Amino acid sequence: MTNRRCNFAIASILTIGAIYGTTAQAATCEYLVNSEWNTGFTATIKIKNDGNSAINGWQVGWEYTDGSRMTNSWNANVTGTNPYTATNLGWNGNISVGQSAEFGFQGTKGSTGANAQIPTVTGSVCGGGGTPTNHAPVAAAQATPTTGNAPLAVSFSASGSTDADGDALTYSWSFGDGTTGAGVTAAHTYSAAGDYTAVVTVSDGSLTDTASVNIAVTTETGNTPPNAVISSDVRGGKAPVVVAFDASGSSDADNDPLTYSWVFGDGSTGTGPTPSHLFSDPGSYVVTVTVSDGQDSDQASTTITVTDGSSGAARVDNPFRDAVWYVNPEWSAKAAAEPGGASIADINTAVWMDRIAAIEGTSTAMGLRDHLNEALVQGANMFMFVVYDLPNRDCNALASNGELLIAEGGMARYKAEYIDPIAEIVSDPAYQNIRIVAIIEIDSLPNLVTNLDVPACQEANGDDGYREGITYALNALAPIDNVYAYVDAAHSGWLGWDSNFGPAVDLIAGVVTGTDEGWSSIAGFITNTANYTPTVEAYLTNPNLNVGGQPVRSSNFYEWNSYFDEKSYAQEFRNKMIAKGAPSTIGMLIDTGRNGWGGTGRPGSVSSSSDLNTYVNDSRIDRRYHRGNWCNQSGGIGYKPWADPYPGVDAFVWVKPPGESDGVADPDFEQDPDDPAKQHDPMCNPASNNTDNPNVGTGALADAPHAGRWFSKGFQVLLENAYPPLDQPAGPPAQ
Ligand code: BGC
Repeated sequence: MTNRRCNFAIASILTIGAIYGTTAQAATCEYLVNSEWNTGFTATIKIKNDGNSAINGWQVGWEYTDGSRMTNSWNANVTGTNPYTATNLGWNGNISVGQSAEFGFQGTKGSTGANAQIPTVTGSVCGGGGTPTNHAPVAAAQATPTTGNAPLAVSFSASGSTDADGDALTYSWSFGDGTTGAGVTAAHTYSAAGDYTAVVTVSDGSLTDTASVNIAVTTETGNTPPNAVISSDVRGGKAPVVVAFDASGSSDADNDPLTYSWVFGDGSTGTGPTPSHLFSDPGSYVVTVTVSDGQDSDQASTTITVTDGSSGAARVDNPFRDAVWYVNPEWSAKAAAEPGGASIADINTAVWMDRIAAIEGTSTAMGLRDHLNEALVQGANMFMFVVYDLPNRDCNALASNGELLIAEGGMARYKAEYIDPIAEIVSDPAYQNIRIVAIIEIDSLPNLVTNLDVPACQEANGDDGYREGITYALNALAPIDNVYAYVDAAHSGWLGWDSNFGPAVDLIAGVVTGTDEGWSSIAGFITNTANYTPTVEAYLTNPNLNVGGQPVRSSNFYEWNSYFDEKSYAQEFRNKMIAKGAPSTIGMLIDTGRNGWGGTGRPGSVSSSSDLNTYVNDSRIDRRYHRGNWCNQSGGIGYKPWADPYPGVDAFVWVKPPGESDGVADPDFEQDPDDPAKQHDPMCNPASNNTDNPNVGTGALADAPHAGRWFSKGFQVLLENAYPPLDQPAGPPAQ
């Protein structure tokens, strides 16, 4: 089937709909026009289970009376030629109570310029039987401020709470210090210091839900504690090594005289602002200074790595080559539990250190050390993890906003509480035979190239910003011989234009060459992390080919960008870095976890059209509405991880673990308790349009949870659209 899903000159985007059914039915079947233009339209049929038992398999039908015809569809088996009958696919036949399934299609209009018709959706699932079901409300709680000195006056609001039935809601509050309140908003003053959890219970008269918010109340002592700062002349070296420490940059707002006490991590201690210390034996030492003003104190730490020049796995050019790749048991179990997922459950995926707490792990999630220990158990000697916690993280979007902010001193915390502990763990000699691949800060430096109109990115472009964080991370990891750092290089659909490509190479090369070890601090760069851009656009290989008198790259879809795929982009990125002075040993990685683009919409040959946009739309395997659509797309599993797939490319890797969401779909989301900063980005809303191009939809899948959470439906779509087919073993790419 040819692909004509999108990218036409869309006259307007309409979201008019007709709901056929009453609340007594098993499901409401809704026909929505997503977009329309003079001669055609795209539409969605949504089947929402409003009954009180699960739907197992569905079939619906519809018929146009104005000459309109459907031309192609996705996410359902559609048969017939007006009337049409659609039945579920394997993965979307079961609709649990309150959930919905949907499928989409494109069609031509009966007469040019007419409004897209909205036909009645029929089918036994859309009617008959059942009793109205009451749905529980969904509670949401917010508070301002959430920290401060006692007495602390706090305003609470539960106005984000929702009820699917539109029932009137009542609210009762328990403020966590024994007092209670009522109402959608409430005010309470905490008189004593302490950590409190305020809980709101939202009721619709018969069912309830709760939400909570934490409040930290502190005591004002009158004395301002000092601020400890630590640095060292070197971060380590070969044993024996003398390291000079300096805490003289520490300060005290009250100008109290300060005293310094040091713990060097090898059993010895010291005093004074600038001691030197001899480390005789190899190891990883956490050095801590405690700075006191006589009343209060503050601490700062750094990690010193001392190697014994002869030990450790020999550093190699390509850590993926001839390596035993680690399998993350946590991801593997989730994949294996999905129908069809067992076929890929033994594949390496990256472990994301996406917050400080991820390093240590929790009772339900493995920490960094747990993974490395498990790698030893597995006999694996290649472990890949992602460094992803910069202050002002994800500055141009909302889905993966992080725990640290530059304005709140996030850079000091990033260094001391995030990078230092990571460096300490990965430098443990116990892991010296594991090639530890560190993927450095996805999306960060590229945002400084293209998104400086966004205030959070502007801030990240300055002091205590992304450059400083990445420099610190590379400096901390570079001395560790078995760590291989790959810095993010976005993807072709973001930086491929000449006007972005050159500045991006300048910026990223500048950061790398500014590190202590310069080019030696990295093994290379990675493209397409967590994105969907194809590895190769098999039928569009020449961006300058003329079709209808215009170059292919000038089509609506490519918008004059010469790089259509990651192979061409990654290889050119490396060439440009080598031209900047990088050694030819640097290698590229391509994240191929979700850029397969198989399934029924994949073209089988190049188009013969002489109309440029038809030619491109019918030939391209990338079926997104727009190359900027990044959230929960209907992509497919791509090439399985493989070393040396192309010259200059070290490996295909799966950095974004397939099945993990890119961001929450629902604008009325509940906070993620682990990552409360994560928000809803409109690019994750299937009903929204691309934020940069309002003429095209986001293409995001519905019902997705917060970024990083397991998204079963998304995983099923990836399996369904896999390319190469999943039964094909890992191996070198066909081209
Ligand atoms: C999320 C992370 C998550 C990662 C991998 C990112 O988008 O922000 O929390 O670990 O994806 O799924």
